[in-house]
Amino acid sequence: MPQLSLSWLGLGLEAASPWLLLLLVGASWLLARVLTQIYACCENSRRLQCFPQPPKRNWFLGHLDMIPPTEQGMKKVTQLVTTYPKCFMIWMGPIIPVITLCHPDTIRPILSASVAVAPKDMMFYSFLKPWLGDGLLLSTSDKWSCHRRLLTPAFHFNILKPYVKIFNDSTNVMHAKWQRLISEGKNRLDMFEHISLMTLDSLQKCIFGFESNCQEKPSEYIATILDLSALVTRRGHNLLMYMDFLYHLTPDGQHFRKACRLVHDFTGAVIQERRQTLPDQDVDDFLLAKAKSKTLDFIDVLLLTKDEDGKMLSDEDIRAEADTFMFEGHDTTASGLSWVLYNLAKHPEYQERCRQEVRELLRDRDPKDIEWDDLAQLPFLTMCIKESLRLHPPVVFITRRCTQDVMLPDGAVIPKGVTCAISIFGTHHNPAVWPDPEELHRTDVRHERDEGGAGADAAALPRAARPRGAAQEA
Ligand code: HEM
Repeated sequence: MPQLSLSWLGLGLEAASPWLLLLLVGASWLLARVLTQIYACCENSRRLQCFPQPPKRNWFLGHLDMIPPTEQGMKKVTQLVTTYPKCFMIWMGPIIPVITLCHPDTIRPILSASVAVAPKDMMFYSFLKPWLGDGLLLSTSDKWSCHRRLLTPAFHFNILKPYVKIFNDSTNVMHAKWQRLISEGKNRLDMFEHISLMTLDSLQKCIFGFESNCQEKPSEYIATILDLSALVTRRGHNLLMYMDFLYHLTPDGQHFRKACRLVHDFTGAVIQERRQTLPDQDVDDFLLAKAKSKTLDFIDVLLLTKDEDGKMLSDEDIRAEADTFMFEGHDTTASGLSWVLYNLAKHPEYQERCRQEVRELLRDRDPKDIEWDDLAQLPFLTMCIKESLRLHPPVVFITRRCTQDVMLPDGAVIPKGVTCAISIFGTHHNPAVWPDPEELHRTDVRHERDEGGAGADAAALPRAARPRGAAQEA
């Protein structure tokens, strides 16, 4: 049987050393893997044919760069959702499909699936991992479920209420700074920059109970958080930098590592310092003392958190959650607030209406600080904020990866292993969801959890429109 002999390779049995055999086994394994992958890709492509797709740039690049993270990109999304009102598929290069969902009907099956069926997709979040670790944003499966349950008490009204005073103080510092700058003749301000410092200032107080005074003087920690956010965004724009080993060789990669160390050291030091005060006291005494003296900050809540078996969070878990909240909380709120100001500036008549509403509420009050209960008494302002978040959502999309086939209401099946992008921006600008999506709407659909939301006095915004289908849902 000459075909079965290795002699045609010039390798007699005597030459077939264990190394060569190992090499052959390795090569066969690799070949089998490649063939399996090719088969899976072809099979996936066949199953994905039921999803419409816009024209590709070419077979290799697919739809890469079709939706850049710019204003142009958002215009493209608006066009795409007009053409494909429920969902569409794009190819990131030749072999990675992403199904973009842009309608509540197609988003619902994914968001209502369990975390085991539709976990977050790490392709888009992995850059944050060295910074945020296994905090709520990046953890999956059991760890996520467990921490999510453990952290629920941190969002109890009684914990959140005193934070309003912190927001007032931080905002007053920002306003005082604006007045000073104006009096010095400065008449152009980058609002996002100032508002980011204000949200970071607030978060640092709420999470760590730490006053860095970062709005008035430079703070190394705050500057590092801003650096990290900018580095992550910049990395996302450069495909070559998606490879970890390449990125960490670049100056940006090294800067990122150094910045992570600094941020972790800060968080670690606060945890250590706080741990030293904790063990000597009974938890109830500690809570009482804190409640009397000052606000219970997020680190306190995390240190006191226990599961049913009395197990507490490790220092690493606490650090990951605190760093995650610091990241998630500052950019989103700064972006949301900046767009609210932009939209109010574009519509002075609504700006005036909001101002009147706030003035009326604070008429007999000194100092004129907004309190927790006031938030439900500002229906028109609430409506404007919600509408601004609809038109300019701070997070434009999120992703999930299906670990099993998921069927959509029209019978189309998202195959196991495929990534879905839930387009928040697309859904908010989808004419099949909102009539005239680019116009201002009354975003007054009341949800069960809204207490005295914006529904009360909604007649003033021009379009008395609800999202299509909302009447049945509300
Ligand atoms: C206008 C403000 C905000 C917007 C638009 C926003 C948006 C979002 C979105 C879209 C997600 C889902 C991410 C995903 O599932 O992939 C998310 C998750 C999260 N956000 Fe926010 N966020 C805002 C404010 C905040 C604030 C102030 C904090 C904390 C201080 C925060 C902490 C978190 C955390 C911890 C998660 C992960 C939750 C989990 O997966 O269980 N966010 N946010």
